[in-house]
Amino acid sequence: MVIFFLSDEDERMGLFGSKSKKLSAAKKLEGAVQFSGDKSISHRYAMLAAIAEGASEIHFFSTSADCQSTLDCLKSLGVKIERKDKVVKIAGVGMDGLRAPTGPLDAGNSGSTIRMLSGILAGQPFRSVLGGDASLSRRPMKRVADPLTLMGARIKTADKGCPPIEIEGGNLKPIRYEMPVASAQVKSAILLAGLFAEGETEVVEKLSTRDHTEIALEQMGADIGRHQRTIAVRGRARLEGKKLYVPGDISSAAFFIVAGLLTPDSNLTLHNVGLNPTRTALLDLLVPMGGRVKVVNLEILNGELLGDLHVDSSQLSGGEIPEELVPGLIDELPVLSVLGTQTEQGLTFRGAAELRVKESDRLAAVAENLRRMGAEVEEFPDGLRVVGRQKLRGAEIDPHADHRIAMAFAIAALVAEGTTTIKDSSCVDISFPDFFETLQRVAG
Ligand code: S3P
Repeated sequence: MVIFFLSDEDERMGLFGSKSKKLSAAKKLEGAVQFSGDKSISHRYAMLAAIAEGASEIHFFSTSADCQSTLDCLKSLGVKIERKDKVVKIAGVGMDGLRAPTGPLDAGNSGSTIRMLSGILAGQPFRSVLGGDASLSRRPMKRVADPLTLMGARIKTADKGCPPIEIEGGNLKPIRYEMPVASAQVKSAILLAGLFAEGETEVVEKLSTRDHTEIALEQMGADIGRHQRTIAVRGRARLEGKKLYVPGDISSAAFFIVAGLLTPDSNLTLHNVGLNPTRTALLDLLVPMGGRVKVVNLEILNGELLGDLHVDSSQLSGGEIPEELVPGLIDELPVLSVLGTQTEQGLTFRGAAELRVKESDRLAAVAENLRRMGAEVEEFPDGLRVVGRQKLRGAEIDPHADHRIAMAFAIAALVAEGTTTIKDSSCVDISFPDFFETLQRVAG
């Protein structure tokens, strides 16, 4: 009989001195899960609340370390923030109220913090420096520095366009910018800078990306227009603080959706999951492949759709992921690669070179760890081909300090033979601090 167990290793491992976790196969998963607030939306609500007039109250704010990095940076810019349980209260300082920081701003591991905050800082009449941890310090920032420079900010980066970023802002002019890469963080940085420019700033996307910034701007009173893939924002708008509710994070739910589909006899209910159509490509892909996921109790809060999901164990066909779905799946591709090994035909995706510049090189990290588990996988410069109907073997997993790799392989462990050890497991705190406890609970 297969039994699920989870244990902390006594030995201390890795850069963070974090414990490794041991997992093995699950008999079934059942129960209900409520996820912490969406990380992407929490970042945006916090940043907009900071430059709004008056107070905001953000309910179900993300418990992720990344969103705490955003709050800490905003505090260093003179914003008063109180955090109690799941509610964050922010006293907005208005468009001209941010204060020059007394030292470098630390974005930690968070690409969203450094890139989106760069947009706001480009509009400030003071100098700021933004940096982060070792992983963030390797990530590309030229993609935000270029458009913000065109708007008139003076920006310096370290070698190869990596952090730290030094920004001297103020006096921005509007631009029309065609995005060379599909990135919601870059789009958002330009729109946020556009709030500080005289006139209308336009961003044109080749492939649509998550639109939480556009929705949040609308909700808080900005003048924003959307026509097909062009988004326009009018500068010098007055944003108003308000009460906001953050839906559960679908990118965290994704691990439990995949786990529920793959583990025999499973039945999971996932409550209040954010279902913004720019984030549900996972469901658009898995349901036609045979995934038994039912969506119920839909509602809209602050312009964002949310609902409950019922997930049952399923036989999945697999196949090829259309390239236009990739931006909407970008954070889910590691766990989808794991799922691919359990499908009839396997799973192939291309057009995902962006995965090489995430918290780790996710294509290499997924391929390496799948191979450690005995799976056959082909790595392309911009994607993977994972062979279907494979038996996975328990193995030692190196997450490369990347939360989504650690969680994807914890799900792989549920369908593997033998024991899997996830090294440096505390990296899950970046997006989902309760991940292992939640998994243990639904595994009985
Ligand atoms: C995010 C956008 C995506 C995603 C990241 C969060 C956001 O990054 O991978 O986890 O909140 O806008 P890119 O903008 O680099 O694609």
